[in-house]
Amino acid sequence: MRRLEGKTLIVASHNEGKIREIRDLIGPLGFSVRSAADLAFEEPEETGTTFEENAAIKALASAKASGLPALSDDSGLVVDALDGAPGVYTANWAEREDGTRDFRMAMDKVEQALAERGATQRAERTGRFVSVLCLAWPDGHTEFFRGEAEGHLVWPPRGEKGFGYDPVFEPLGHAQTFGEMEAATKHGWKPGDAEALSHRARAFKLFAETCLAA
Ligand code: IMP
Repeated sequence: MRRLEGKTLIVASHNEGKIREIRDLIGPLGFSVRSAADLAFEEPEETGTTFEENAAIKALASAKASGLPALSDDSGLVVDALDGAPGVYTANWAEREDGTRDFRMAMDKVEQALAERGATQRAERTGRFVSVLCLAWPDGHTEFFRGEAEGHLVWPPRGEKGFGYDPVFEPLGHAQTFGEMEAATKHGWKPGDAEALSHRARAFKLFAETCLAA
């Protein structure tokens, strides 16, 4: 496992919701963070078929473009009754023909697919958010950290906070959706904490414990 020595990190993302969460999670660790969006790096095409492959594509592109270590997040919603869909295609389900993203439309699609499968009871509406972080160095070395958060798909959507599919995901053991939670509650983690709640915070906990540990 390669340790991260410097305190400057590129966040290899153009997704504002993700960048905000990654800044929140990494801020307390004392990093100076620039995002691929701030630096106007081109967004690479995500041609992989796994979260790991897509995370590596994004992190390596930013590490090579900047000459600095870069951290990416490839994430998605995995719904059991839909055989794992939308999975790595979670962002694609929100894409409109004009190239913009509409998450209300994407949540409707998930709901429609669940209805077509007859998954109307809570027990049939299980799933998880997955986040795979990839830390890449300009020489091509990569490290991966995976976090998952189990929960239920609810309908109708609830809450205006967070981003993406947050309003339809109720994490296990909580009565609120991610969309109803303050960011700190959704993460459920800061450096030093034993537990984390969100998939991204769980992956971050592994990153902090392994790549940053003394
Ligand atoms: P990608 O990793 O850029 O391919 O896209 C992942 C997609 O999953 C995003 O467009 C989000 O809509 C969705 N997603 C990932 N993490 C979260 C989350 O924490 N809350 C809600 N949606 C998420």
